[in-house]
Parts: sequence; structure tokens; C-alpha cells
Amino acid sequence: MSLAAAPTPSVRVRAPGKVNLSLHVGPLDDDGYHPLVSVFQAVSLAEEVTATQVGDGAGISLTVDGPQADRVPLDATNLAWRAAELLARHVGLAPDVALHLAKGVPVAGGMAGGSADAAATLVACDALWGTGLSRQDLVALGGELGSDVPFALHGHTAVGTGRGHLLTPAMTRGEFHWAFAAQDEGLSTPAVYGRFDELVAAGRLAPTAEVDADTALMQALRAGDPTALGAALHNDLQAAALDLRPELERTLEIARNGGALGAMVSGSGPTVAALARSRQHALAIAATWTAEDAADSVWCTTAPAAGARVL
Ligand code: C5P
Repeated sequence: MSLAAAPTPSVRVRAPGKVNLSLHVGPLDDDGYHPLVSVFQAVSLAEEVTATQVGDGAGISLTVDGPQADRVPLDATNLAWRAAELLARHVGLAPDVALHLAKGVPVAGGMAGGSADAAATLVACDALWGTGLSRQDLVALGGELGSDVPFALHGHTAVGTGRGHLLTPAMTRGEFHWAFAAQDEGLSTPAVYGRFDELVAAGRLAPTAEVDADTALMQALRAGDPTALGAALHNDLQAAALDLRPELERTLEIARNGGALGAMVSGSGPTVAALARSRQHALAIAATWTAEDAADSVWCTTAPAAGARVL
């Protein structure tokens, strides 16, 4: 008879961070959200969530590791915790699970790392608890948790409308190389949207979600043409993020001087994204940011990457 204990069932899931290749933001709606038209691309920086079975009635517990783990809440405000709770409630189970997050996406950086945690947790708990929900069900639950969660489930490249949660896949060819400059002090997404509203009210910005401005961008993606993609990058939240963090202007400038094919604030920031010609070029841009003290950390990645999946 073997005395070895049965392994504790656990499931590990990886979900990607994202960059908005374009982000067109419309005027604030009555529901407190802004209608968007955005092209999302998943990047190879990813979160890994491990969900481990615990005893009945143990509830949810959460641990985190990674370079910026100290900046992540470990309680019910964490989107991963809320994802486990929501899924359990949806299927009528007790939310008993130990969650561990290995963070590979900059925290509060406009790259949807928290949304990736939520997406990975939904997939992991679904597998651990054997709830057998469809992808469609998980996407609907994800949309309740946050506007970017459906895309972290989806991955690859997609056009998002609504709050950013209604997705249509976009065709792309080849691999794109990105460098990211992250800051230790994050920006709150609602604060950036709030500044966007102020700039619109002051007549300094015009909302653009109604425009169909992404034809060149979609063509660049289909052709796998990084130069054309760099020229088509667009972010309506950039002005608001720069208004809150004027020093990011210098980070953008350094990337452009380093030959970036395009450089912009990623999503609501403060991370700056630079599209590079090659991995070597991305590493060179990142090295210049570090040398010029224009980032607290630098990250190089390829894109597109797959959506949340069990490892
Ligand atoms: O959906 P999520 O929880 O990620 O959104 C965080 C906040 O960002 C919202 O409460 C809202 O203030 C703002 N937001 C917005 N319009 C969107 C998405 C987010 O105003 N389309």
C-alpha cells in the first residue's frame, strides 16, 4: 500500500495583458461608462493563476508573487477574488478555493493585468470545480467584473465596442514587437476617464468613438506591416493621461528618438508602449528608457498572444 498522499487538485491558467492599438472614446453615458471603439492586442506578458482545492467552508484565500506583488490587494477587492465569488454564486457552489497569482503584467499600468487575473480565475475555478461553463458563459461573467475581462479570455487581436466588452476577432499576420515603460505609481482608470471628461468639457478634446478611423490600422494588421501599424496607433485617453502625468511626454519622446515605429500611452496609462522593428530594437528602446531614468521598470514582449488557457 502506498502512503503517498493524493496530489491536491489544482489548475494553473495563463491569461495575457493587452495593449490598445487604437482607443476611440465617446462622451460619458448615463450608466457612468464611455462607449468605446478599440482594437485590443494581447501581449506575451501574462498573469498565471493557480486555483487549488481547499476543504469545504474554507472560503477564498489569495497569495501573490511577482515584481510588483506588494502593490496588489489580497482581499475581496481583488478582481481575482471577485471572479471566484461571482462564478461560485452563478453556479450555486460555495466559493472554496486557494488562489495564487503570479504577476507578469505591470500593476495599474493600463495593460489590464487585473482583468487578466479575473479571466484566468474564471477559467481555473470552472475547471477545478467542474462547473463546465461554456466560453460564452465565462465571457458574460467576465463582462460583469470589468470591461477588459472578456478580452483577456479572448486574447489575440479583437475590435471591442460597447464598454470595450463586445468583441469581434481581427485578422492579423505575423508577430509584432513591443517595449513597455512602466511606472511604480499607477494611474486609476476612473481618474483618467474623469480627466478626459474635464478636457472635453473645456473644449480641449473631442470624443471620437463614432469615427471609423481604423481602416489603415486593420490593413496594417492584415498585412503584418509594423511600420504602417506604428503610424496608425491612436489613443484618445493619452491626452488625459499626459495631463495627469506630464513627465510621460519625455518617455514617449525617448522612444520616438530611438526609432520606435509608434509610441503611445497604453490604455489609461501610465505605461508607455513603443512598437519596435524587432526584438533587438525593442530591447534597445527599453535600455534607453532605463539609461535615461524614464521608467521604473521596462518590459519587452511579442504580440499577439493567446487568451486565457489552462497550462
Ligand atoms: O469596467 P471597469 O471596472 O474596468 O472600469 C473601471 C472604470 O473605468 C469605470 O468605473 C469607469 O469609470 C471607467 N470606464 C469608462 N468607460 C469604459 C470603461 C471604463 O468610463 N468604457
